[in-house]
Amino acid sequence: MERTFVMIKPDGVQRGIVGAVISRLEAKGLKMVAAQFTVLSEEKVMEHYAEHVEKPFFPSLKAYVMSGPVLTMVWEGKDAIAIVRRLVGATNPAEAAPGTIRGDMGMETGKNVIHASDAPESAAREIGIHFTKDELVAYTRIDEAVLY
Ligand code: TYD
Ligand code: MG
Repeated sequence: MERTFVMIKPDGVQRGIVGAVISRLEAKGLKMVAAQFTVLSEEKVMEHYAEHVEKPFFPSLKAYVMSGPVLTMVWEGKDAIAIVRRLVGATNPAEAAPGTIRGDMGMETGKNVIHASDAPESAAREIGIHFTKDELVAYTRIDEAVLY
């Protein structure tokens, strides 16, 4: 089983589409194993987006992700990292395929609804930034025997 870090960004929260986004991940067969509704600290944003701190868009990205509450989550499942990235769609919602979360629910790169880890290393790193080990819970989805 793989785990991936997912975050519904401030625009997703403020537009009231948190439930719609979660529904897609649940319906796919992924299992939520941690969640926190919070406003990110500057320290966490710098760590989380470490690969982007020198990019020209970083100041606006930082201001945006700190502009309101986010829902941080960990989702688990077979090939969860790649599967969630596929459900999320391309970075720019204007170009993201219809059927993807960004393709169906967003308008521009600066406000693209959701973050998801892009590889096993980044998933482990991001989960470690936002959650402690004892905040990840174990339970059985009743459909697991049918899903796998
Ligand atoms: P990136 O990791 O490239 O995209 P993704 O979220 O699909 O993994 O970039 C992180 C976030 O930074 C992206 O979701 C939105 C923001 N961003 C911009 O605001 N402008 C840009 O030109 C890029 C590439 C990203
Ligand atoms: Mg990324």
